[in-house]
Amino acid sequence: MGTVDPHNRLNELSAQEWLRFTKTWFVHNPPRRKEKEILHPAKFPEDLIEQFITFFTKPGAVVVDPFAGTGSTLVAAYNTRRNGIGIELQKKYADIARERLQKLDGQFQLSNDGCEENRKQLVLEGNSAEVEKFWRQYGLPMADLVVTSPPYGLMLHKKGLISKDREEKGLDTAYSYDKEDLGNAEDYDQFLQKLVDIFITLKPFLKEDSYLVVILQNYMDKGEYKPLAWDFASRMMKHYTLRGEKIWCQDNKTLFPYGYKYSFVPNVHHHYCLIFRKDSEKV
Ligand SMILES: C[S@@+](CC[C@H](N)C(=O)[O-])C[C@H]1O[C@@H](n2cnc3c(N)ncnc32)[C@H](O)[C@@H]1O
Repeated sequence: MGTVDPHNRLNELSAQEWLRFTKTWFVHNPPRRKEKEILHPAKFPEDLIEQFITFFTKPGAVVVDPFAGTGSTLVAAYNTRRNGIGIELQKKYADIARERLQKLDGQFQLSNDGCEENRKQLVLEGNSAEVEKFWRQYGLPMADLVVTSPPYGLMLHKKGLISKDREEKGLDTAYSYDKEDLGNAEDYDQFLQKLVDIFITLKPFLKEDSYLVVILQNYMDKGEYKPLAWDFASRMMKHYTLRGEKIWCQDNKTLFPYGYKYSFVPNVHHHYCLIFRKDSEKV
């Protein structure tokens, strides 16, 4: 990175780095996960999240992940000298997140003054639908960015080749059977509504013009293709401005012979990183 341009309102990237990021797709093959992290069915890679954080914020900013899982966003925030606030429903994942963060140095005061020494990662345990309670209880600052990957619909309860393999290895195939877990919503529509509601609840705690990056996938469920990323985007657009997407492709995943010899059934090896912005004119 060269010298910081004082006219750059969003980040500290060079013109070249800025331009490179605006391409709408990329290939990223996550590195092998560590023993504890593999327990979680859908952890995302920190270096990928670091790219979003360094584009959408400057050092010292506050990054929020309402579905924190094993804390990858918070680790990425730490690595990029930002503060992080993560909310996770399941104690077992929140504990892993805390453990990962404890191994990192420099747990300082939560601050938004852009000072390198002031960065802190906070893991809160509970339901993100109660985000307001957390902000009031802890007196948390307004956020500059949300980066998150919510449960991908009801998909983790599906029986398939992948979940069978994880089951045989004694790993989690679903986050929980907790009623508050979005992944356990009654049906697809209820899931979508609950998910969007969480982002609506979060809105008063986000700064004006702040961005949200929500990583989701479309998926096949009992022979029906669920365009989750698209449905979510169209519902979110009533509350936030959709600014675009970056498609994350993985090209090192096993191809399973779903539907072989009778029907097209995709091996979905891409995710949508949907980018929204909080704009004052949207209610
Ligand atoms: C796709 S995972 C996130 C993984 C995370 N990015 C990581 O790298 O570990 C979604 C997480 O949302 C959590 N979750 C589901 N419903 C929730 C809720 N209502 N409030 C907070 N967390 C919830 C699940 O327990 C799960 O860990």
